[in-house]
Amino acid sequence: VDATARFAAGMALIAKSDCRACHSVKDKVLGPSFIAVAKKYKNNPSAVATLSNKIKNGGSGTWGHAEMPAHPALSNNELGSIVRYILSTGTPQKTQKSMPVTGSYTTSVPKGENDNGSYIFRAAYTDKGTASAAALTTENLLVLRGSLLTPSQANEAKEMAYNRDSTIVVVKTSGAYLKFNKVDLTDIKNVELKLLPRGRGTDPPSTIELRQGSVDGKVVGTFTGSLVGKNTVQVPVEGAEGKQDLYIIFSGNPARLNGVKFNNE
Ligand code: HEC
Repeated sequence: VDATARFAAGMALIAKSDCRACHSVKDKVLGPSFIAVAKKYKNNPSAVATLSNKIKNGGSGTWGHAEMPAHPALSNNELGSIVRYILSTGTPQKTQKSMPVTGSYTTSVPKGENDNGSYIFRAAYTDKGTASAAALTTENLLVLRGSLLTPSQANEAKEMAYNRDSTIVVVKTSGAYLKFNKVDLTDIKNVELKLLPRGRGTDPPSTIELRQGSVDGKVVGTFTGSLVGKNTVQVPVEGAEGKQDLYIIFSGNPARLNGVKFNNE
């Protein structure tokens, strides 16, 4: 996560509220600049609490006679994000390399990280502002999930039971499914289900179907067979179209799974 994305929540809350009428990052408007606030509270360990309170209740006297209105609608969490962003303006952030407006970008996993994280792409544009208006910034965030998803990352689970810490999900009845929103299956060769193997014994076959768009959408992969003794099942993907909601539907014998991996080879 880059520094800017870390403070994106605080920046967005400030943009939505009235703060910019009286504050800018660099210059004093009616209220102090955010950089001045950050410098003043740099070594103050209770800065987050003090400033959260001040923004919530309003007041004057610290910077002069002008008065800041109260902001009772902001929650403590929101205030925390806002204040952490304001305090971050006091130290120069690593500037991010700007990228061209169009083109492609190949991600690489940073040293020391495993490949189970997410990528956050932030597209931001800041104009130069005018004499009377602060520069405006607009931005969009795109979060890309890793190729290995845990059951708890499913956007919907029907007729599936989770264990206590949501690391394992068990199929309760035929027709149970996990839904993952907006999965891009382009170039994905198979979907690998990480299973907790079932015991020995005779086991009538299970069927696992991948469908795109809806529970009865286009079938883009099927596995039929026994799950006895298996800790993974690879369901080959065929005929998938781009980025759509993905349903993984289970029938036959119940499966227990703790991961879904998207393989491109
Ligand atoms: C109507 C103008 C106005 C608006 C709107 C406003 N402020 Fe202020 N703000 C001020 C003034 C004036 C001060 C200086 C108050 C003082 O001297 O105690 C101030 C002070 C502050 C301080 C420093 C407080 C301190 O005690 O050192 C922070 C942080 C701050 N504002 C954040 C915000 C945020 C965040 C918002 C939006 C949610 C906001 N302000 C909206 C006018 C405003």
